[in-house]
Amino acid sequence: MTSPRFNPNLLKVPIYIAGKSVEEVQEEMGLSEVIKLASNESPVGASPQAIRAAQKMLEKAHRYPGVIDRELRCKVAARLDPDLAQHNIVLGNGGTDALRMITQAFVFDGGNTIMSRATFPMYHILTTTFGGTARFVDMRHDYRHDLDATVDLIDDDTRIVFLCTPNNPTGYIITRAEADAFMAQVPAHVIVVFDESYYDYVTDLEYADSMAYIKEGCNVLSVRSFSKTAGLANMRVGYLVGPAELADYVCHTRLPFHIGDIALASASASLDDEAYRTHHLKMMLEGRAFLESVLLEMKLNCLSSQANFVTFFDPPLEPNALVDGLLRRGIIVRGMAPFGMPNAVRVSVGSPDDNQKFIEALQQVLDSSRTEAVT
Ligand SMILES: Cc1ncc(COP(=O)(O)O)c(C=O)c1O
Repeated sequence: MTSPRFNPNLLKVPIYIAGKSVEEVQEEMGLSEVIKLASNESPVGASPQAIRAAQKMLEKAHRYPGVIDRELRCKVAARLDPDLAQHNIVLGNGGTDALRMITQAFVFDGGNTIMSRATFPMYHILTTTFGGTARFVDMRHDYRHDLDATVDLIDDDTRIVFLCTPNNPTGYIITRAEADAFMAQVPAHVIVVFDESYYDYVTDLEYADSMAYIKEGCNVLSVRSFSKTAGLANMRVGYLVGPAELADYVCHTRLPFHIGDIALASASASLDDEAYRTHHLKMMLEGRAFLESVLLEMKLNCLSSQANFVTFFDPPLEPNALVDGLLRRGIIVRGMAPFGMPNAVRVSVGSPDDNQKFIEALQQVLDSSRTEAVT
């Protein structure tokens, strides 16, 4: 053999391109002030209680992780629902790792998964990684997930349906009525994944909370994250919730000591930090309302979001040019082509000052494109 044997599945995998970092853009553009509104992070730092817990745990950095995994699972379960317990929870190295564990557990010897065309690209990437085929459902004309078309695509070899709610990038939720109708039609061999990473930002009372299906013992796994409302994106902690037998089975894909105690201790402490959570949520919900109303005033087609980001589509100049214009003015946002919406741009809700600076820069970019069009 003259060369190593490469995994053909991996060669097909589109590499996930993360939002640019502040440092990268400072270097590239020669700017001192750069605001990142591209990865839906917390603009108010991390939970102070979480930081203190992590600092304390550093003293144990020489030990392999201990019992905190179990403690955190108990704590998470108790907060979710009195009928759930530690064996319903599997922790992951971020919600992304929980999604990886689920996909690895159910996609093997081929198989397909179904997802919206406009959604979080990791579902597609993970499916391909494990040798499955991703099937895409176009969005409805009102930008909602087309659940009827999803049911129509299910066949005997469908392993997983991914439902992202609120959906990244639209910010739209799946309602209880929609989810109930969908669940009634899903065959028993299919795992339904509710990716609820943005759950905490939902204010719509119609929201379908998947815990009820899990308690009924349906083949449902829900994914949540400590990256958003706990402000712990860099700690990499998330989890899945599911019926005990499914959660147990998925554990076969878990690596030993896959999350360090420093991260686990910070996640656990963040759950007790009500003051941080309230402050963060207030800023995010006010910022979301501010961005949506100003974008609409600017005559941009803005989707009404239930997450900590806002997406607008068909701007008057090409989305990549708009993203680039903002980048030159020190504001990082993301074009949504990798998320299946090439006509759209997503901006994360920032601090009031960040949001204001984004709007000012956006106005400048739009004005200069109009001037260029006239000259
Ligand atoms: C829809 C969705 N799911 C999952 C994640 C994973 O988050 P993390 O791995 O940081 O927990 C993200 C991150 O932004 C996301 O947008």
